[in-house]
Order: sequence, then C-alpha cells, then structure tokens
Amino acid sequence: MIGGVGGLQQAVVGPPLWLLAEITYRCPLHCVFCYNPTDFARHEDELSTDEWLRVLREGRALGAVQCGFSGGEPLLRDDLEALVAEAHRLGYYTNLLTSGVGLTPERAAALKAAGLDHIQLSFQDSTREVNDFLSHTKTFALKQRVGEMLKAQGWPMVMNVVMHRLNIEHTGRIIEMAHELGAEYLELANSQYYSWALENRGHLMPTSEQLKRAEAVTDEWRVKLEGKMKLFFVSPDYHEARPKKCMNGWGNVFLTITPDGAALPCHTARMLPGLTFPTVREMDLKTLWYDSDGFNRYRGTGWMKDPCRTCPDQEKDLGGCRCQAYMLAKDAAAADPVCPKSPQHGVVQAAVAAANAGEVPARPLLFRDRATSLKLSCSGA
Ligand code: FES
Repeated sequence: MIGGVGGLQQAVVGPPLWLLAEITYRCPLHCVFCYNPTDFARHEDELSTDEWLRVLREGRALGAVQCGFSGGEPLLRDDLEALVAEAHRLGYYTNLLTSGVGLTPERAAALKAAGLDHIQLSFQDSTREVNDFLSHTKTFALKQRVGEMLKAQGWPMVMNVVMHRLNIEHTGRIIEMAHELGAEYLELANSQYYSWALENRGHLMPTSEQLKRAEAVTDEWRVKLEGKMKLFFVSPDYHEARPKKCMNGWGNVFLTITPDGAALPCHTARMLPGLTFPTVREMDLKTLWYDSDGFNRYRGTGWMKDPCRTCPDQEKDLGGCRCQAYMLAKDAAAADPVCPKSPQHGVVQAAVAAANAGEVPARPLLFRDRATSLKLSCSGA
C-alpha cells in the first residue's frame, strides 16, 4: 500500500534518485516555450545558499545520486560554484542545464574545479534571426563562444534544442551546426505543451508532415554521424499514439525543488488544485517525500478511475501525465487526454488538426517575462 501510513510507505516507496534544484526563476532570456510556471513571478523568494546546502545534504541522505542545477538561468546565482562543490563532495553526479548566458572562461574553470560533471547547453535555432527572436535576446554569437568554453574545460558537448513549428524546418542545419561546434550529443526535444508553451501552442505545434520530415532528416544524419555524435529526437506528446509514463511515475524517482523551496514530483505540479506541496523551509525532505499528501496522491495505481483503472497498460504508462490531465481534462485524476482511450482525447486531436490545417492564433506569441507572468497570475491563467 502507498500513502497514509508513514512506516509502511517507506518500505514500499523507493528514494528519489534524481534531485533537480531549480535554483532561480530569473532568466535573461524570454523563451516562448519556457517550462517554468507562467506565474513564476509569484515565487521569487529564493532559498539562501545555506538553505540550498541543507537541501543537497538531505537529498543525498535520502538516496539521491544525481543532482541537476537548472532555472531560470542557474548562472545568475553567484553561489552556483559553492552549491556544485558541495553536491560533488556529497557524491552526487552533477549536471548544469544552462543557456550559457553568464558563463565566462573564469566561471567555467571554477565550475570544473568545483567538480561539475556535465553541462547541457541549450540553443534555440541554427540561425541568428530565429535564435534571437525566440529568446527575445541577442545571444546567438555568445552561445557559440560558450560551446568553445565547454570544450576547453574538457566537458562533453551536450546540446539541447527545443523544436517546434518555427524551427523544425531547420532540423538538418541545426544538426550540422551542432556537429561543427563539436557536440557529442544533441537532443532535439520537441516542445511539450505546458506553461508558456501551452499559452503559445497554436504558434508552436508542428504539423504531422513536418514532424515526419524532421525525423527522417534526423535519421539521415544519424547514419552520416555514426560514431561521432549521438542524436535524440523526442516527439511531442500530442502526436504520439500512447501517453508517456510521466517522470517515470509520480513521486517515484524524481524530486524537484523550486527556487522558493517547494518540493514537487514534476516541474508544474504546483498548479494542480487540491494538492499541497510544503516547502523545504517547513519540512525536511524525508518527510516531504514519504509522508506529504502531494507526493502520495498519485503514486502507484490506487488513485485511478476508468479508463485507467481497468486498462491492461496501466502499469506501463501509469495513466500518463497528471498535469496534462488537469490542463486538458480539468481533472488531475483523469486519463491523460493524449491516450486514445481518454474521453477527452478529442482535445488533443483538435489541436493537431488545427496545426495540420495551418491555423495560427490571432493572439501574438507570448514571451516569458516578469510583467506577463504577473498579468497571467492575476488573471488566474
Ligand atoms: Fe506533472 Fe507530468 S508534468 S505529472
């Protein structure tokens, strides 16, 4: 049984293996597909260095083995090196997810000395115009310099590009550019429709044809670059035939801590109504992970209703994504509408059909920024 009885839960629920420290929501970029919550401006009371150090220690004591530092832009915290050093000392495998803005040769050397194992650098596109337009900043040339800094420190070059209708036709050129920069890994991650990307879905959703072509181009490059660069292509959920086992299961292996200390099973769970997620200021990580209502609510399969309750695939996908169920079906305990068995699957089909028909919303793209976040928070969006 999971949930309800503290001692018994600990025997059944494993530890969080992957701790994601979202150390700040501040970011110099304004990406239209940002996965930070649209109301991020309401959560600006960042944990102090000492509070983060305590989180790292408690996470490791709980059994976490991998620690990611992300944001916002984590380089905006000038205690990043100290946090990485402590995570390394504790024995975590450490990973930094960054746009590269704020990285200098000196900081790269300091992060290397602190023991940082891995950096993932994000790009928006292979062209200056689209890169700078999508992030609403002039960062294209800088990102190329950052790529060189990573190589100089001996980190493997791991690049990530969020794909969508505005850059998917550049797939081949993006791969070529990553290769020219010396990337060993490139993740072409299609935008999933959460947070800012959900607001902009009508602009960002590629057509089925575009996706098919992009996958074919990626396959051609896989052959050309065999042994030199690994390519990963992640399709958007809406175009998939089956829902994903989101976060590898709710409260199963993944624990994220937001800049102001809320402990969540995924980046966006805080928006779900009727759930409470205490912060690390109120509770230690062990109690949060094993005993809090927020983490226990959707663990396992006991919470399911039809069609998930009687579905033979319930263990495979665990009903899909709880946040997507809430966003599209207005019920976090419903089947993920990506699933063809969901009574709300039509919502997903309609979004794909609109993209395939070339429909573009009248409302312009919404760029992630503080003022818009405050406006969306007030309007309850
Ligand atoms: Fe929250 Fe999938 S993103 S459960």
